[in-house]
Amino acid sequence: MIIANWKCNGSTEMVLSWFEAYNIEFNFENYDFDIFIGLALPSIYLNHFDREDSQFNFAEWGVQDVDHSDGSRTGAISVDMLIDMECDFSIIGHSERRQIFNEDNDLIKEKLKSLNNRIMPVLCIGETKEENDKGITKDILKNQLEIVNGLELDESFTIAYEPVWAIGSGLTPEPKDINEIHKYIKDVVQSNSANNLIPTVLYGGSVTDKNAESFFKEEFVDGALVGGASLDGTTFAKIVNIFNSTKKT
Ligand code: 13P
Repeated sequence: MIIANWKCNGSTEMVLSWFEAYNIEFNFENYDFDIFIGLALPSIYLNHFDREDSQFNFAEWGVQDVDHSDGSRTGAISVDMLIDMECDFSIIGHSERRQIFNEDNDLIKEKLKSLNNRIMPVLCIGETKEENDKGITKDILKNQLEIVNGLELDESFTIAYEPVWAIGSGLTPEPKDINEIHKYIKDVVQSNSANNLIPTVLYGGSVTDKNAESFFKEEFVDGALVGGASLDGTTFAKIVNIFNSTKKT
């Protein structure tokens, strides 16, 4: 699974040229069609073009965040609206939402519950540099994962492990350390969810076409959530091609 998170970037012109570049680089001939390739563009661009058109048909469509309720909530987008617009997934709990918009675990849990069994949730978790330096990464992740406790999770439930210090910095943990953390995340969710689900776990944070293979080779890395490098259609297609030749789901 590879997901592009464009964050608050893009324009009409960029959307159209991005797909052109992507489709030139994307290795259609050897593509394993079971691989989930998700695009979380800014939601305002979701219906900006004909998603049924063949140039877009490699993609699953998603959003970068969602609200847990509807009605008098100015600026919000609800889960019902995502279903209405045929979205396939929503990211929740991104560290930028936690830090810039002050979202806490209670709110993120409400979002998870409103998505669960309706639209695939992609829950982001990750420690800060300070927490990493203190050696408390696993404690922090376990705390962020408390929101799954006792929940009957949908099979599609996905986690993105995104160390805050790796986002947009060019720094990443060692692949073997990412692998160990992913195993830990899978174990925690399996132990604490009502249905003992083993989630898909993606890595996010400074993934590029240069380092992607080193992550994808690791056993418990099920794919990537890509920020900056996803803004270039050619680079994103290269990352998908690398994933396609390294992993099989
Ligand atoms: P970068 O790939 O730009 O580090 O961003 C990662 C991210 O935050 C994806 O959600």
